[in-house]
Amino acid sequence: MKVNTMDIRPTQQTLGARIYGVDLAQPLSDAQTQTIIQTLGQYGVVSFADQKLSAQHLRDFSARFGELEINVANAYQEPGMPEVMILSNMVEDGKPLGIADAGQDWHTDMSYSRMIAFANVLYGIKIPHRDGKPLGNTAFCNMHAAYDALSDEWKHKLAGKTATHDFSKFWDMMRREKGSTRPPLTDAQKAAKPPVSQPVVMQHPITGKPVLYVNPGYAMRINELPQETSDEWLDFLFKHQLQTQFQYQHLWQEGDVLMWDNMGTVHNAVADYKPHEHRFIKRCQVMATKFFHADGTRRDGHVGAHA
Ligand code: SIN
Repeated sequence: MKVNTMDIRPTQQTLGARIYGVDLAQPLSDAQTQTIIQTLGQYGVVSFADQKLSAQHLRDFSARFGELEINVANAYQEPGMPEVMILSNMVEDGKPLGIADAGQDWHTDMSYSRMIAFANVLYGIKIPHRDGKPLGNTAFCNMHAAYDALSDEWKHKLAGKTATHDFSKFWDMMRREKGSTRPPLTDAQKAAKPPVSQPVVMQHPITGKPVLYVNPGYAMRINELPQETSDEWLDFLFKHQLQTQFQYQHLWQEGDVLMWDNMGTVHNAVADYKPHEHRFIKRCQVMATKFFHADGTRRDGHVGAHA
């Protein structure tokens, strides 16, 4: 499909489209920006091949889609450009070049934040390979499809429910269960990201359709239920949403820009490479400021919003 110079090729899987015919180092037109937003809503994950970007190009491209986050816990930022974060297992002169274990389990970025995230934009500069195959895939699950596949009984039970999401859940799990060397969160970091409440089912602001908006990384508790029932429901929902029929994996090529819709997907950075198999990626996080006010209500006046 050709739109605004862009050739959009869906993967024909549950998520994903590859876009050709656009140089992301050049300023995007409004029409191109809108096309990418619609494509993200429809396919959840988009990738652009053979890009040659400076950190500033990456930042400028990402900023077309909303305000950029500066991560409170991140020591690894592009010098002079805190919106650009470095994800890497590389070490130079004994110093890590980036955060080595970002996102290495299922989660949704920024679901713990009052202003949720719209999109992640990753630029793959060095991708590890073994036996000719790329390693360090980014895996996704489709939350439109996961909601659709719930029984009517579950859809009814979940209507109007909210869940508490907490930043420290994923961080503490990485330290406790995955041997992460990340330091404990400081009180100041925790205070900067207090737990927030989100709807369990959100009307997606691009597609207008319902999505399941809980994730194992950050969702702690369904607020309207006793603890034990909440644990049972979340356990069911986490298993449900991660079923293979909803899964898609992006296999990286150097020069790829990978962008995904955090409102309609959950994701996992697959940690199947060793310290000597080098991965170096630059990332921007785009907040959902195009769709929501600071208090979480929808800019287009839709009631129900995400808060
Ligand atoms: C992330 O969760 O943003 C990291 C994804 C990746 O490194 O593949």
